[in-house]
Amino acid sequence: MSSLPSARNPKITVPELQQRKMGVRAGNSEAGKITCLTAYDYPTARLLDEAGVDVLLVGDSLGMVVLGYDSTLPVTMEDMLHHTKAVRRGTQHALLVADMPYGSYQTDAADAVRNALRLVKEAGAEAVKVEGGERHVETIARLVDAEIPVMGHIGLTPQSVNAFGGFRVQGKTEEAAERILRDARAVEAAGAFSVVLESIPRELAARITAEIKIPTIGIGAGPDCDGQILVIHDLVGLTFGHHPKFAREYLNAGELLAQAAANYCRDVRQGAFPSDAESFHLSTERRAAMVARRS
Ligand code: KIV
Repeated sequence: MSSLPSARNPKITVPELQQRKMGVRAGNSEAGKITCLTAYDYPTARLLDEAGVDVLLVGDSLGMVVLGYDSTLPVTMEDMLHHTKAVRRGTQHALLVADMPYGSYQTDAADAVRNALRLVKEAGAEAVKVEGGERHVETIARLVDAEIPVMGHIGLTPQSVNAFGGFRVQGKTEEAAERILRDARAVEAAGAFSVVLESIPRELAARITAEIKIPTIGIGAGPDCDGQILVIHDLVGLTFGHHPKFAREYLNAGELLAQAAANYCRDVRQGAFPSDAESFHLSTERRAAMVARRS
């Protein structure tokens, strides 16, 4: 299984993603939608990368789907560094983006640059993602000045869960929609190379996508965005509790895993695992010598 970038599966870069949107606007049929998934570990990253996913995001959703927290707020820089390093080792083709966790960029722009540099230098991220629009333009601009490509994230920003009073669809009133539109313009003006639109009405996402020049990556934002992202655990059925309607499940790995574990337990209890063929053996001579020593 080769994992080196090839003509069929080339290395994805920030400029390439931006050109893709321009290509779509120019009617180039070669240019397609941008595919993004989250990944948090080496085997998943390797499989998704070899499947040809364009962007792997080490999302701070890590906190909820891997670490078992009920929000993304407790995720630390050390968590993000640890998991980004693992994903880096499994990624050859995809652009690797790491989330800036809550508290790593809200204090001031200098902290943001310091923490983002760690994600790039220590963990191998090629870009970082920052939640928030107008309020974070200075931070985004400072990161871009430091040569760190930034993916914005507006609409339902999970780090604002307490301010929003829950994980709710955003931009449903005219005023809220205008605010999100301003956020999109601000993120673009600050120099972000793309922006995630999360849980907003399809019509608003389509308007933003038509207006701004950087690619929009939707999650719960309808099909008109320039690309789509899903949390890998949602895609393969490894999450518990509420399942958002936009999170299409392509596989029920949870059921398969539970069944495999139950089968294993049954076989061990019945003495059916391991079999003789799954056991190591002494050579015929050593076995004979052992039997002779016993008798
Ligand atoms: O943390 C995450 O996984 C995300 C994506 C859902 C966009 O921010």
